Amino acid sequence: VQAPDLTGRHVVVSAGGTREPLDPVRYLGNRSSGKQGYALARTAAARGARVTLLEANTGLPDPAGVDVVHVGTAVQLREAVLKAAADADAVVMAAAVADFRPATYAEGKIKKKDGVEAPALTLVRNPDILAEISAERARPGQVIVGFAAETDDVLANGRDKLRRKGCDLLVVNEVGERKTFGSEENEAVVLSADGGETTVPHGPKEALADTVWDLVTPRLL
Ligand code: C5P
Repeated sequence: VQAPDLTGRHVVVSAGGTREPLDPVRYLGNRSSGKQGYALARTAAARGARVTLLEANTGLPDPAGVDVVHVGTAVQLREAVLKAAADADAVVMAAAVADFRPATYAEGKIKKKDGVEAPALTLVRNPDILAEISAERARPGQVIVGFAAETDDVLANGRDKLRRKGCDLLVVNEVGERKTFGSEENEAVVLSADGGETTVPHGPKEALADTVWDLVTPRLL
């Protein structure tokens, strides 16, 4: 049983993956299940925190004892993060946010036509929520945690991403077809801006979540 070391704290966790609509029936999405974010929300609540969970397209039931806000797209998630982070002690961005969205949304279903080439898909950049909230902290001493899924040079890319995003902690996962996504288990390295490196061996997503909170609590003001 964990000590209630987050009592009196408000933490915000994003979970799942954004979907960027092309037309009323199609979207660009990703393979995030939301399970790691849910584990972070559950463990924070178990440690006494008030938890706001920003949920994107997981299909998972709302966890008990947690405030849940449902969002679809990256732009909607950004609005929800900015609102919830205003009085938060810590923000953990576990959601997989689409880096790009379709430049236009077709009000009617895009149709194939005989003798006409397939349409080109033009994308535009989405706002980088993690970089934005790290650069402009809603309150002094707010602890901000990012996630990074990497397929190669995991540690070097992780260090680089931690610097670019400007967050305090970055949970770096190696991902592949059969790794991490949808699984009940995870393994990761948590990098900290002060040079720290914590290896979390393969195990339940709850264990990684508790390690994240173990690293967040001593950094809280
Ligand atoms: O740049 P990359 O997508 O690899 O970064 C992953 C981290 O950044 C995650 O914590 C994710 O929630 C966050 N992110 C974000 N806004 C984006 C893209 C990623 O907050 N547009």
